[in-house]
Amino acid sequence: MNFELKNLSWEACEQTICDVLILLVPASSKPAKPTKANDVPTKSVKSLPALKRLMLAALEQDDLDTSAGKLLSCYRSTGIAARQVILVGAGQANEKDVARACAAAFAACKIPGAVKSAHVMLCLAQINGLSGASLQAAMQAAAASSYVYTHTKPKAEARKLQLVSINLGSQAQVQAMSPELQQGRALIEGVELAKEWGNRPANHATPTLLAKAAQAIAAGKSPVSCEILGPKEVAKLKMGSFMAVAQGSEQPLRFIVLRYFGAAKTVQPTVLVGKGITFDTGGISIKPAAEMDEMKFDMCGAASVLGVFKALSVLKPKINVVGLIPSCENMPSHNAVKPGDVVTSMSGQTIEILNTDAEGRLILCDALTYAERFKPAAVVDIATLTGACVVALGAVRSGLFSADDDLAAQLLRAGEASQDLAWRMPLDDDYAEGLKTNFADVANVAGRMGGAITAAKFLQRFASQYPWAHLDIAGTAWKSGAAKGSTGRPVPLLMKFLLNFEQKQAVAGKKSARSAA
Ligand code: BES
Ligand code: MN
Ligand code: ZN
Repeated sequence: MNFELKNLSWEACEQTICDVLILLVPASSKPAKPTKANDVPTKSVKSLPALKRLMLAALEQDDLDTSAGKLLSCYRSTGIAARQVILVGAGQANEKDVARACAAAFAACKIPGAVKSAHVMLCLAQINGLSGASLQAAMQAAAASSYVYTHTKPKAEARKLQLVSINLGSQAQVQAMSPELQQGRALIEGVELAKEWGNRPANHATPTLLAKAAQAIAAGKSPVSCEILGPKEVAKLKMGSFMAVAQGSEQPLRFIVLRYFGAAKTVQPTVLVGKGITFDTGGISIKPAAEMDEMKFDMCGAASVLGVFKALSVLKPKINVVGLIPSCENMPSHNAVKPGDVVTSMSGQTIEILNTDAEGRLILCDALTYAERFKPAAVVDIATLTGACVVALGAVRSGLFSADDDLAAQLLRAGEASQDLAWRMPLDDDYAEGLKTNFADVANVAGRMGGAITAAKFLQRFASQYPWAHLDIAGTAWKSGAAKGSTGRPVPLLMKFLLNFEQKQAVAGKKSARSAA
């Protein structure tokens, strides 16, 4: 699908032939209560453009609520070329309200069966001082509403929405928003790649296939490079913890290394580590049958790293990023690791595996040790790590764990700006008490209480050599029920976080150039 920015008059907007015209109406559009003095004479109202007249009439009659996401749909409105017109309240017109308004409006778009490539005109011209974040929120909503999964459902109707024209308030705004548009496009590519791999069933998304997906991102003229390690290389690295999880499956493990170096080689990279369990049965500590299919989503952390690298390959920002994905299945078998087994991680720490279903931390800990070789500025791991995090935060915010206040603040801010929210959780050392054991340096599980935090405390032991943060996306990476499917989160948060680095470096560069002059 494509997006274009326009600066159209009311007349040109309403005369554009398209399937749906969506007009965002912020609360500030509400005219002051008419008094005799400022009452608009009927004649001049009649001479107003049809779309504006429709909006003003709907506001005046209180038929349009300007709270974010409230809809008023019209069909074949006089003087308007679009078949369907949707007026939608945009509240305070911040990124949150714009996102909500666009999600509601795009969901209400009626595209008849005969239309194969729908064109929507999205009018944001009523929003004063539209931010880049709001523009991108609108684009994300359009993309999310029209995404179709087809890989194992080839007869599903393909995406209908092909073009979204976004009408802005001025030509200057069109100019100013053009880089934001580019970013928005790249972000959508990244989110959709993450969704695609998240959604694929485990037999269509094995560790080997995930590695091929990474190689595809690095193929051709891509600025991304990719290295794949298999069982032999991983054994040589002494990743005993990762290998223990993989040993129960027929599918060979893969350790994926992605590199994107858009800045000088001397700039320390940010390392992203994504949990890539392509299916989590729980292993010998097997899970109950109900909803076990959803454990195909246990590689959504890995998918988000792939999504970020896809977006980087499109945008080519001046930053350095390394992506690490340990990937395997967690299966019960005669070869599988058993409760009580003790393994030696790459860090040298021994781990007693008391529960084979706490496998995510076992593959991540070796990847965190591997990350040390990049001398990273920061490491962020992303994992569908604990059911406890779903209990704590539900599907709204991802769990954020970091002992580094600055890094935590940057990630939280990136989440707010991209409407891909996170919430900081504690890391007090007292939470690690339960990980003590008589038989190894550390156990892989503590008690039932505070499960998301004890998991993070386990990981923290392996991340002592750099600033580190952990995102538990167990509640946010996919939706259950009728809308079952991957969300592509937290690709928007991660991209915003990484791109903020570029901005900071640009500002620092200018400052040092000025002080040198
Ligand atoms: N992949 C799961 C976490 C998960 C469970 C995410 C349900 C989303 C929904 C993880 O590997 C796991 O099984 N965690 C266990 C840890 C426990 C054994 C300490 C859990 O959360 O139950
Ligand atoms: Mn598990
Ligand atoms: Zn898991």
